[in-house]
Amino acid sequence: MIILGINAYHADSSAAIFKDGKLLVASEEERFRRVKHWAGFPSLAIQFCLNEAGVSMADIDYISIGRDTKAKFWKKVLFMLRGFGKKISLLADRLSNSRQVVSIEKELADLSGLSVSDIKSKLKYVEHHRAHLASAFFASPFEESAILSIDGSGDFTTTMIAVGRGDKIEVIDSVDFPVSAGLFYTAFTQYLGFPHYGDEYKVMGLAPYGKPIYVDEIRKILKFTDDGMFIWDDSYFVSPYEIRLSYENNLPTVSTLYSKKIEELFGPTRLKGEELSQKHKDIAASVQRVCEMLIFHILNHLQKRTGLKNICIAGGVAQNSVANGKIIDSTGFENLYIPSAGHDSGISMGSALYVYNHILGLPRVAPIYTAYTGSKFTNEEIESYLKSRNIKYTKFDDVELFDRITDKLIESGVVGWFSGRAEFGPRALGARSIIADPRNSKAKELLNLKIKKRESFRPFAPSILEEYTGEYFTHVESVPFMERVFPIKPEKHAEIPAITHVDGTGRLQTVSKSIHPRYYMLIETFRQKTGVPILLNTSFNENEPIVNTPAEAIDCFLRTQMDMLVLENCIIER
Ligand SMILES: [Fe+2]
Repeated sequence: MIILGINAYHADSSAAIFKDGKLLVASEEERFRRVKHWAGFPSLAIQFCLNEAGVSMADIDYISIGRDTKAKFWKKVLFMLRGFGKKISLLADRLSNSRQVVSIEKELADLSGLSVSDIKSKLKYVEHHRAHLASAFFASPFEESAILSIDGSGDFTTTMIAVGRGDKIEVIDSVDFPVSAGLFYTAFTQYLGFPHYGDEYKVMGLAPYGKPIYVDEIRKILKFTDDGMFIWDDSYFVSPYEIRLSYENNLPTVSTLYSKKIEELFGPTRLKGEELSQKHKDIAASVQRVCEMLIFHILNHLQKRTGLKNICIAGGVAQNSVANGKIIDSTGFENLYIPSAGHDSGISMGSALYVYNHILGLPRVAPIYTAYTGSKFTNEEIESYLKSRNIKYTKFDDVELFDRITDKLIESGVVGWFSGRAEFGPRALGARSIIADPRNSKAKELLNLKIKKRESFRPFAPSILEEYTGEYFTHVESVPFMERVFPIKPEKHAEIPAITHVDGTGRLQTVSKSIHPRYYMLIETFRQKTGVPILLNTSFNENEPIVNTPAEAIDCFLRTQMDMLVLENCIIER
């Protein structure tokens, strides 16, 4: 049973292939197109997945797509009728949505050489939030679990709660567009002067510099309800008929979401390039706090309602790693699973799992703890490419390789590390990473100066050997996908200043020997020399999607002031 899952004509479009319920390969289209959050048809990702899995479209039993234009159909009709005579930007989007369904069928037919009717016979449409729910629950180790999907919006829903048991997901409740935790966060992200799709993590990074003194005001905008869900005061937002998520040039763009009333309450919108004031930081802290409170409010109700101890979460808001790190302490749940692609690229994976487990009723296979499902290049391929470009390199065996890299890190070097299959999801996890010495108090400035050039308030993250988590962090949980932030023990702050955020926390990745042995051994070599089982790990890119190929890694190396580039066993130095 081979299933191809797709997220198409939506932000972070992607493809994934499962064989007999096991994930073989998955990748975002942006990695091939070199445009962040690329939102068109994922033809290159599909082609890549077919090649890697060694199958053709004719071999595919089902093609799952994470969208269902019929979902909440009558609610949408009512919504449109109420908006009759108003601006019709949303209506235009809805119409283009149904055109896209036709386009998906045609694109798949063109790509495969099969007829549109052949393609149609394989297609299964899975509603957006059910795909999110499935991406978390069916990939989790739990036989039974509560599930939350929470994002900006998809298929007219913004939040969905459910229970998963075995191969079935039962939806309990949902919140309709436009009331949305994701859109609420995006509105304040825009107000704070970060206008691009996906900028919310900047507000999360800024929050620890402020005090949450506006929580009461913001809770009047986003109101928690007794049923464990929420509503909002719509006077603080533009009319839902004016909200537009457009995909011009395959780039997702969200129109301004907040109304003048936000400016009346908090003052004028922060302009581009305007210095961040203490008030901006306090607003960021307050928005982040309210977002966390809302997540705990939903989860605590869900826990009481279901009596379950396991929780799975997905959706754009589930990328809020600060909130995620507090879930076990702040709710009645005891175990948490979040997939590596908890945001919309995971829709490809989730829709395929939903078809395999829920629709076809086939039994679940092993849980997914690896994000390494993308592109891979052998030493032979890399060497042949380096020779073709006349680039000098030296090849070492693993032991000497790790020795040389760690020496470079200890000398304050910044190293590009390219090893094994690329990650699926927004985080670099030691396959396409830039690494540095976490003990170096200047590492953050060095990285920003040499490569990243990003806002100085944003933290860098640690990869830690999992056995040592309890020595450095106050919490010992498995965090394979860098999806949680934990406090770093106060006595360790001075030891690892480069990855200790201003509030004493770190967004960690716990590295397991069985999942990425080479990355594990690299950190272990560093530990043997320094006593510190941690590396600073940031994504291998410079204002672009994470590098996917050796060519892109070399271009990034040449464009920036990285000190060393490691492509599998080959080292390139300046
Ligand atoms: Fe979503």
